[in-house]
Amino acid sequence: MKTSLSNAETRSSRRGKKVSFLILVCVALLGFLAVTKGLHAQGKNPLAGDPKAAKLGEFEFRANCAFCHGLGARGGGRGPDLTRAQKRHGNSDADLFRTINEGVPGTAMPPNGATQQGVGMTEEEIWQVISYIRGVEKKADAASVGNAAHGKELFYGTAACSTCHMIHGKGGRLGPDLSTTGSARSTEYIVESVRNPSRRLAQGISEAMKEFSQEYETVKVETADGTKYVGVVLNEDHFTLQMMDTRENLHLFEKDKLRAFEKTRESLMPAYDQKTLSEKDLQDIVAYLLAVGAQ
Ligand code: HEC
Ligand code: HEC
Repeated sequence: MKTSLSNAETRSSRRGKKVSFLILVCVALLGFLAVTKGLHAQGKNPLAGDPKAAKLGEFEFRANCAFCHGLGARGGGRGPDLTRAQKRHGNSDADLFRTINEGVPGTAMPPNGATQQGVGMTEEEIWQVISYIRGVEKKADAASVGNAAHGKELFYGTAACSTCHMIHGKGGRLGPDLSTTGSARSTEYIVESVRNPSRRLAQGISEAMKEFSQEYETVKVETADGTKYVGVVLNEDHFTLQMMDTRENLHLFEKDKLRAFEKTRESLMPAYDQKTLSEKDLQDIVAYLLAVGAQ
């Protein structure tokens, strides 16, 4: 049997426990905030200058990012060159953290945790990846040596890129829109696309966001009445083929109604050798694409 006194005692000791528990929670919260602040909100890489962090980051990068950004972060067919000092989505540590953690909505750049493995990186691992990127970054942009204004003249003029490519709504539609190519592709990739277009075909627009996107394959078609078309494949399934011919007309064919149908991996884009387009002029066009991509 409990007396009212002992009841009061337990109550007060309970209250005491409650209070000390609350204090504990506050201290823990403050500690947590301090830690996360140190890692995140402060916006500076807490692991900067730690070679071990960069090494671990390289490992993370190979597992989660190289698939799109290429080995050594020099860019691949699906992601930009991250060794460029100038980043489109901001150059500060905090900007990089945000881009990597949240992704770039509307592009192939996924938020943290949405990659194939589906396992997100911890904040510490993100900072390690940033340490790695800082380690491979070039001090100045090599591509900025080109003359973007002259590149633009060539693009719409003698090099005739604009007959097939659009930039910000101006130009042809047979080839992919190049408005974001400068930010999404490495410099090497762009140069190779121009010198040797068939080696690696561009990914199709219609499916650009999918894991396995359609490529800009070339297709030759002969209809039942003998009309021939050459163009690029826009969409295809077992029964139908959607294509754009070289005069930018769209067609939808039922495959079994065609007299002939042949797909090749020979690009419709002419290969520009050194005679048609000098190394310097190509650098200028690349500079133009990079300048457009940075907008
Ligand atoms: C499925 C392909 C893909 C994967 C995987 C991917 N990225 Fe990206 N990333 C992209 C694309 C595409 C962009 C360009 C987005 C745009 O158009 O601005 C990009 C942009 C970025 C940028 C911004 C570059 C700039 O100029 O501002 C950073 C930084 C970046 N990625 C880091 C990473 C890191 C680190 C990983 C791995 C954790 C990763 N990415 C995984 C495709 C990918
Ligand atoms: C006759 C049409 C035509 C002309 C002219 C042309 N292209 Fe292309 N281009 C294409 C087609 C079609 C593709 C898609 C197939 C491929 O990847 O080769 C393409 C692909 C590309 C790609 C790859 C894009 C990506 O996202 O992968 C780049 C870069 C490119 N062209 C740049 C240029 C530049 C620069 C010029 C001018 C010097 C040019 N093109 C002239 C038709 C053309």
